Amino acid sequence: MTGACSHPELPNDLNSKINDLMSQMTLEEKIGQMNLYNGFWDITGPAPEEGDAANKYQHLSQGYVGAMLNIHGVENVRKLQEHAVNDSRLGIPMLFGYDVIHGYKTLAPIPLAEAASWDLEAIQQSARVAAIEASAVGINWTFAPMMDISRDARWGRVMEGGGEDPYLGSQISAARVKGFQGEDLSAVNTIAACAKHFAGYGFAEAGRDYNTVDIGTSTLYNVVLPPFKAAVDHGVQTVMNSFNILNGVPATGDAFLQREILKQRWGFDGFVVSDWSSTREMIAHGFARDNAHVAEIAANSGSDMDMESYAYVNHLKVLVNSGKVDIATIDDAVERILRVKFKLGLFEDPYKYCDPNREKELLYHEDHQKAVLDMAKMSMVLLKNETKLLPLSKFQQKIAVIGALADDKNSPLGSWRLGSDDNTAVSVLEGLKSHTDQVTFAKGADLVTDETTFRHEVPINETDKSGFGEAVRLAGKSDVVVMVLGEHGFQSGEGRSRTRLDLPGVQQELLEAVFEVNKNIILVLMNGRPLAIPWAAENIPTILESWHLGSQSGNAIAEVLFGAYNPSGKLPMTFPRSVGQVPIFYNHFSTGRPDATEMVFWSHYNDESNSPLYPFGHGLSYTTFDYSDLSVTVTGASEVIVKVTVTNSGQVAGEEVTQVYIRDLVASVVRPVKELKGFQKFSLDPDQSRTLEFKLTEKELGFYDNEGKFVVESGKFEILVGTSSVEGLSGEFEI
Ligand code: BGC
Repeated sequence: MTGACSHPELPNDLNSKINDLMSQMTLEEKIGQMNLYNGFWDITGPAPEEGDAANKYQHLSQGYVGAMLNIHGVENVRKLQEHAVNDSRLGIPMLFGYDVIHGYKTLAPIPLAEAASWDLEAIQQSARVAAIEASAVGINWTFAPMMDISRDARWGRVMEGGGEDPYLGSQISAARVKGFQGEDLSAVNTIAACAKHFAGYGFAEAGRDYNTVDIGTSTLYNVVLPPFKAAVDHGVQTVMNSFNILNGVPATGDAFLQREILKQRWGFDGFVVSDWSSTREMIAHGFARDNAHVAEIAANSGSDMDMESYAYVNHLKVLVNSGKVDIATIDDAVERILRVKFKLGLFEDPYKYCDPNREKELLYHEDHQKAVLDMAKMSMVLLKNETKLLPLSKFQQKIAVIGALADDKNSPLGSWRLGSDDNTAVSVLEGLKSHTDQVTFAKGADLVTDETTFRHEVPINETDKSGFGEAVRLAGKSDVVVMVLGEHGFQSGEGRSRTRLDLPGVQQELLEAVFEVNKNIILVLMNGRPLAIPWAAENIPTILESWHLGSQSGNAIAEVLFGAYNPSGKLPMTFPRSVGQVPIFYNHFSTGRPDATEMVFWSHYNDESNSPLYPFGHGLSYTTFDYSDLSVTVTGASEVIVKVTVTNSGQVAGEEVTQVYIRDLVASVVRPVKELKGFQKFSLDPDQSRTLEFKLTEKELGFYDNEGKFVVESGKFEILVGTSSVEGLSGEFEI
């Protein structure tokens, strides 16, 4: 552990400023910096006089609050910042944290959808837009990006992440951190990012949120940790720990994770914040006796700031005085927190994010609308287009649009959008109608039976099919049917685990009823996680995965349906055939009995195949791409050059994502049957070809052993280069 102000790499003046300030601070004031409160009173009204709010208010004047969350809007932030700066003894400005997950007012697609673009620049730009709007309403710290790798579509929070793959996930993490924090953290439109949730949260048993995580070291080092390492390498300022226990120890109280790996091995110099009450939850986990014990464990194990557990503010002083927590531990945490505040420029101007003109000008700015529209188009994945129903022609066809989600302006905004306004998405119906007047709508059935909110269960319509008749009649007299089905936006996100991955409510029945009268169905899926839809995959000729695309949903979907934009997304997460296959993911290990035999004694299910419905990396285009001339040349002890030629063999221009997978055939710790190690996204005109080059180095060829040491071992590798994790040209090499 480092003592106060010992970071040699920082400019001396920053070190000495922190030193100087800390030398003036009392123990209580230092502990105050480690305290993060939620705000929930009427900030612009009179000061609260009783209860928890009054207590918090009082603590603000005493300098016992380092940061607040859920305060936004220039007026609110300014009022509380003034309170902290003017009324406390040392006037240390606060951080204002908020969950800006995929935008503040203008909403980009949910993060899982953005991951499907495989477009790192666009993803970075999307985070930039979110930071610009958030910083305009006083927020200087976002609790994003979430970088939990997950292989379990039952877990609702997969919508917040980058999918199942550590390589793609790491690149996306880095892009998002760069987008939020920009080049210069002290600029008025950049905010501190937070890599969350450290660590293992995406591996909750059976996909049930907050559940136990029990994983081996190889998975921890090679799958869970890499995106966090990438975020740290790209200067992420804060890290949030997680609710779960990891191999028997709550992450919030895990010194191995927070001290040894994050701060020592990786040299992270920002601070760690707990998740909401995750500190206190160590009692329920059976790891701490009471809140004082909680404070002792969390502080000693490297959790620097306590979100809403009241453990530090109430107990740390006694713990320091009794010697249970070293003052050096407190100093280290406070130094880390102050450093972030200095870097943000809050000491120069605590109100720098409180400019009412920026707030007025920047929310819903037209440039932001354009950026999220572009992002939304890139995020869609064409899963199937067997009879080439897509793209639609605007002129000749009578188009029936069916499904409650088609006329919904709220659900497509997705989950985790605390600052946004309800019902502000462009609906699919609105989007289609701006292209053609050949559209007729019938709802078919409601998806929900009541109001939906971020905090409550979504009431799904499981019984009412009274609208089926009208929808079927309309479908019967139309040339083509666009059915918009899937999950409500609030069916994914925190606390939104599902045991079924089908189309909720009566939607499957509606789909089958319409199919009876018209087989020309284009199924537009809206969902926050992979779904298991084997019937649709078998019977419906065309399926477009649109996820929850945010503010510009309907416009983006219409552009894809009419061919104004050629879909280019690829799945960042495997789609199962059945829930029983979950967790299903492409980079699994081989069993000892991988091959089918005549008898039953091989690794398989008796009632379902092992293969996924749609594999990782899958995604079609309105054109086709041919692969040729794969060459794999070993150019050094651990350097391999891979070349491949890709040709647009179809009729229209399109974008392809070429993916490179390797398999290390024999290793001291077994390696997955495939691992993504490179990708490039590019566009080609019809008949145009391009030769791509990929370089595999130690970074791509090595792995972490069970001690967490990165090793590169000699031996044979297989390689697959192509359009998905299952389709491409294969070769081999030896290093
Ligand atoms: C979530 C975090 C979030 C925090 C603050 C928690 O419930 O797990 O991801 O940042 O709340 O809103």
